[in-house]
Amino acid sequence: MSVSETSAVQTPKAFKPRIFSGIQPSGGLTLGNYLGALKRFVEKQDEGIETIYCLVDLHAITVWQDPEKLRQQTREGAAAFIAAGIDPARSILFNQSQVSAHAELAWIFNCVARLGWMNRMTQFKDKTAGKNAEAASLGLYAYPSLMAADIMAYHATMVPVGDDQKQHLELTRDIAIKFNNDYGVDFFPVVEPLIEGAATRVMSLRDGTKKMSKSDPSDQSRINLTDSADAIASKIRKAKTDPEPLPETAEGLKDRPEARNLVNIYAALAGHSVDQVIQDFAGAQFGTFKPALADLAVAKLSPITTEMNRLMADPGEIDRILGKGADRAEAIARPILEQTKDIVGMIRSRQI
Ligand code: AMP
Ligand code: TRP
Repeated sequence: MSVSETSAVQTPKAFKPRIFSGIQPSGGLTLGNYLGALKRFVEKQDEGIETIYCLVDLHAITVWQDPEKLRQQTREGAAAFIAAGIDPARSILFNQSQVSAHAELAWIFNCVARLGWMNRMTQFKDKTAGKNAEAASLGLYAYPSLMAADIMAYHATMVPVGDDQKQHLELTRDIAIKFNNDYGVDFFPVVEPLIEGAATRVMSLRDGTKKMSKSDPSDQSRINLTDSADAIASKIRKAKTDPEPLPETAEGLKDRPEARNLVNIYAALAGHSVDQVIQDFAGAQFGTFKPALADLAVAKLSPITTEMNRLMADPGEIDRILGKGADRAEAIARPILEQTKDIVGMIRSRQI
């Protein structure tokens, strides 16, 4: 009897709660990454759910990355995770390219996803807007299918992300559903996006209608996790605002994107609701609010920066942590990938 016949396809009825999320090591991490992702990754870990976090270097190279910088940024990303509170003994922390199941499952998903679905992806459109789309890499186009593979390789059921990833998670669901339907199995879970809190979309400090991003050409537009206390305070002081004082109710922030952004950042950093922040600062001028926000941001971010710098002094230790994480990730992903191959009808000779 062949191996594939002995290890019959499993069709789990209920999937155990498991969280997966990823961040690209394509630049230094920003306050947006921290509030939209990292901080919430730590909360999920501390709730006792099984958590798997990944530095998605395969995604990063969908646009050009200098090799030495990519290595450095991957280590820096890992240091940021740990400094923010990810415990590599409790969570699995690794870089994507060390676990080949991601790329293998992505290929199978490339054959499940439809061109029409990919053509609707707004992140691809945004990333190629104003540029020659013909010159974009094929990897950038297939990016969401690899993201679906990241999640499904672990049968993850929940994915904490910022608001910009919502469409990619809908695609992940579509791919899982189509795979299950095409092959008549109940094999991949339909994932639940966790997009929660006051800072699911942190905006640029220079333009309240644009997302804060590591790839924005203006460093003034973002707070980096590596910024000094002075740099953080200065960027907040110079942040674009309007001339009005803060409103009496959260409703009053409606058409004031810059003011709303700063209030949202305050609320997320303090762990307060937006209503509470508005109550505390109703009628205050930015001359009062900005220094309070700067103090809060420095108080919350400085310890992380200090710890990141300490960890970065020993890159060998970071690499060891990532290697151990990759071994643990592989142990979960490999059997799921092998079962996927069975479902698809691929012969394999190795026992899982
Ligand atoms: P990326 O830097 O694109 O790899 O994003 C990593 C994670 O950070 C994803 O969950 C994003 O949704 C989240 N993220 C990135 N930028 C922001 C932002 N400005 N506000 C909130 N979340 C963000
Ligand atoms: N696309 C995500 C981003 O840019 C990063 C990512 C890759 C991811 N794979 C993932 C996020 C899997 C969550 C789950 O933000």
